[in-house]
Amino acid sequence: MRKILIVGNWKMHLNTSQASLLVHRLQENIPLRQDIEIVLAPSMLALQPLSLQIDRRKFRLAAQNAFYKDEGAYTGEVSFNMLRDLVHYAIVGHSERRHFFHEDLPMVRDKVKACVRSGITPILCVGETDHERSGGETRQVLHDQISTALYHLTAHEVGDIVIAYEPVWAIGSGKAATPSETKEAASYVRHYIKDVFGDGASASARILYGGSVMPEIVHGFLEDSDIDGFLVGHESLNYREFSDIVNSAYAWQRKGGGKK
Ligand code: PGA
Repeated sequence: MRKILIVGNWKMHLNTSQASLLVHRLQENIPLRQDIEIVLAPSMLALQPLSLQIDRRKFRLAAQNAFYKDEGAYTGEVSFNMLRDLVHYAIVGHSERRHFFHEDLPMVRDKVKACVRSGITPILCVGETDHERSGGETRQVLHDQISTALYHLTAHEVGDIVIAYEPVWAIGSGKAATPSETKEAASYVRHYIKDVFGDGASASARILYGGSVMPEIVHGFLEDSDIDGFLVGHESLNYREFSDIVNSAYAWQRKGGGKK
């Protein structure tokens, strides 16, 4: 059975003391939920202090990015290898990185490989733009993003991975996609894994939905048998909203969901 996973991507928000305050509030507001995994992705700067502050029974940490070389003369970069004792997860291939920092398919592939090599689980972000969607290119885009990113991985490694399906048009828009709008894409991702890496990998890899996630949409998406949780941006900066997202997932599970 796949455990529900909820990831808060804080992006380039909150300095270390603000990050510490948010963690404090989240720890007060989110009870221990054995069956839900909650991951926080603060800025690189806050990872170290938060690793000492978080209640590890409740939260795990993720990096938002890292570089694919293990070490060397790469001014300004931090490697996955350097983060290996600090984080369980790393977000790779977020659309903001693809767009603003020109991360292309081979770079995302190298980052996924470096991440796995360092013992960190990648949260690989994929998704089509508005333009690509209206041009009927969603499947092709997902195929290109997933096939290159997973290229060097074994079936066992793919079974551990997290793929966040984030339609670019829903990110930061304040208007999430609907489960029916994303159903086909999520199912395509799961089928791709099954066809290429086999039943075991496809049964255990987790697929998240991301893009303007808010508490009200949690149940609808969890009803989709391919969706195992959420990558939350804006709403993860507000402890009440983020706690409500977690609590809503918990309520869904309690009423009999979660048998995926
Ligand atoms: P959003 O961001 O929830 O603010 O749309 C999601 C993301 O970029 O991961």
